[in-house]
Amino acid sequence: MTTYKIVMLPGDGIGPEVMDQAKRVLITISELHNLDLELIERPCGFEYLHETGEPWPEGTFELCRDVADAVLLGAIGRADNAKTLAVGEHSPGRIIVLGLRSGLGLYANVRPVMLFPNIMHNISGEFRPLWPVENVDMVIVRENTEGFYAIQKNEDSALSGVSDEVTDKRIITKKGSELITRFAFELARGRSGAPVDGKRRVTCVDKSNVLNGCRLFRETYNSVAWDYPEIGRDHKFVDAFTLALLQNPENFDVVVTTNLFGDILTDLAAVLQGGLGMAPSANIGVDSGMFEPVHGSAPDIAGKNIANPIGMILSMQMMLKWLGERKDDDILQQSAGDLSRAVENYFKNGRSLPIEVGGDADPSAVTNKIIEQLKKINVN
Ligand code: NAD
Ligand code: IPM
Ligand code: MN
Repeated sequence: MTTYKIVMLPGDGIGPEVMDQAKRVLITISELHNLDLELIERPCGFEYLHETGEPWPEGTFELCRDVADAVLLGAIGRADNAKTLAVGEHSPGRIIVLGLRSGLGLYANVRPVMLFPNIMHNISGEFRPLWPVENVDMVIVRENTEGFYAIQKNEDSALSGVSDEVTDKRIITKKGSELITRFAFELARGRSGAPVDGKRRVTCVDKSNVLNGCRLFRETYNSVAWDYPEIGRDHKFVDAFTLALLQNPENFDVVVTTNLFGDILTDLAAVLQGGLGMAPSANIGVDSGMFEPVHGSAPDIAGKNIANPIGMILSMQMMLKWLGERKDDDILQQSAGDLSRAVENYFKNGRSLPIEVGGDADPSAVTNKIIEQLKKINVN
């Protein structure tokens, strides 16, 4: 039996709270399916930096690169809600999150936007159902190593000394744009289209009416699209896209965009899902994968035992699916399928839902329910 090595980086704030839950689900799955998983956990992040002077133990990057079959990350960031910036505040996120994305060549950030049944959206402090469940089912594919982020990983000076005039460089290359747009079209091939009409399409979101980098991105998208005549082309400027995303989410199937736009748009898209705690993501490269929820360390709720662990659990589900396909391992693929059904059944059932989406279940109670559903699936 193959042993899969999973490196777990819980990080800060609610990172460890949600990672604990994903770990419980992962252990249950490995017992139910007889998987041989080696879970290698490393402390890291902002807190760790304050204790040790380093963002993560020496050799952790190499562990992720050379040993791990996949990396699971919680969140890196502030753990308390202090308003002032502490020394090195930004460094751990940049070194760990951006360092892994660029260092492992994780060029595609895949962020599915799905709405489950019985979710209540908390808007202006009131919980109510907003979008019909079937209207929200898209994937936002975010370019993950270029744009404004390419430079950030190296230049510590960029954040330590801010003068009266600052320039942020954005790098967009033809090669990077081609990789990510091709990834998006390939992804669309395996999907069943936009909710509105069941037609497959890839929407290119950019600001090519103003920015040269976006012109290159759009031109590259257009030339890649010729190779996928069966998939619809669609263009939106990023400002208009924010409107369309909330007004008519049913129009979108796969969306491809540049790095920073993708960062912002996926927090906005989390509103369609019921909240940021619902949103999973996968960072995919040629040889590696790193899986993390879209949210950060959430200092405003850290330590209160109310975080929603679903985004983290679904990120782990994406890890099982990716690893299963990559290793051609049917059992892993089946476990991923089971977990996705278990989460779906849990929301359909509608009891003990996460506090974030109008329920009353703390993180551990949410996990208990998902484990219950997993066990039911495996009895039948
Ligand atoms: P955040 O994503 O941590 O939180 C934004 C809002 O969403 C908060 O109100 C928070 O309570 C809520 N939220 C987030 N996750 C939730 C969950 N699982 N359940 C319920 N509610 C949840 O963004 P922020 O407050 O701007 O950032 C805090 C820190 O996290 C910063 O230091 C930032 O740099 C870092 N960050 C890290 C990552 C990462 O590691 N991948 C991602 C985003 C932000
Ligand atoms: C995300 C986060 C990161 C980003 C930060 C922590 C560097 O916001 O994963 O969405 O900006 O990409
Ligand atoms: Mn973000």
